[in-house]
Amino acid sequence: VEADAAWAEEVRRLAEERDAVLLAHNYQLPEIQDVAHHTGDSLALSRIAAGSDASTIVFCGVHFMAETAKILGPEKTVLIPDERAGCSLADSITAEQLRSWKAEHPGAVVVSYVNTTAEVKAETDICCTSSNAVDVVRSIPEGREVLFCPDQFLGAHVKRETGRENLHIWAGECHVHAGINGPELAERAAASPEADLFIHPECGCATSALYLAGEGTVEPERVKILSTGDMLTAARDTGARSVLVATEVGMLHQLRKAAPEIDFRAVNDRASCRYMKMITPAALLRCLREGADEVHVPTDVADRARASVERMIAIGK
Ligand code: 13P
Ligand code: SF4
Repeated sequence: VEADAAWAEEVRRLAEERDAVLLAHNYQLPEIQDVAHHTGDSLALSRIAAGSDASTIVFCGVHFMAETAKILGPEKTVLIPDERAGCSLADSITAEQLRSWKAEHPGAVVVSYVNTTAEVKAETDICCTSSNAVDVVRSIPEGREVLFCPDQFLGAHVKRETGRENLHIWAGECHVHAGINGPELAERAAASPEADLFIHPECGCATSALYLAGEGTVEPERVKILSTGDMLTAARDTGARSVLVATEVGMLHQLRKAAPEIDFRAVNDRASCRYMKMITPAALLRCLREGADEVHVPTDVADRARASVERMIAIGK
């Protein structure tokens, strides 16, 4: 299937026929992003899904994102073009593991990143995304212990920003972001002393970037730790002529559209998420034609998970 104008027209026609809204995450293939009704980061897409009056949501992203849309709108039909599109980060903690961790810390507040399964969300007090993780933790009274899962690098970022000693961090990671490492970033930053650094907090190099800033190798104001949605806002506001981007490479498409005059370069151009890329033009077409793959979340799990997801979409910008 070629993603040409006829394909795009057919996709939009089928979407209308199904009363479906097409959502695409910033890491999707450029042609999928361009055909979608809305693109965005995890938080923005969850909010759009919750507010949409379409009876069907077609989620071009990974499985936990589609599950989150289903938790928020159980009466809606939620489709994902390929249900095998998982997430290595969501796989790094199970509901059973979280229950044991909670048992070791009675009374602690559980904050889970949205990159988790519905079963983990059902064991969670507040979900967060990379754009509101710091605000979510700040919303919790100082005296309460916090269990933060599953991403260790985002957890370290939140701990640094909030200065919170009673925040415990699970040792999970995303294989794509963990692979964007400190030495690689240091080398690229040294070669482009004029460039801004846009770094996703899931990256293994986020700590190194702040270290480089601390020791004066990189000017501190050039280092920006941002969610994918916040990178787009920063791209419109930065005065820089070039930007080094540390996140999944799909992000470059929206950045280049938002600020065509800036030279955006990936810190690691092999940082491609194979799950995100399972949503191909052919898969999207099949999804709309067949009404598959449909995402189901058992009612009892969805009911227990809903409050934590609703708190997530209520907090932060
Ligand atoms: P955000 O879009 O919320 O920054 O998340 C990044 C991510 O890795 C989603 O899988
Ligand atoms: Fe999961 Fe990482 Fe892929 Fe995002 S980039 S969907 S966190 S595996």
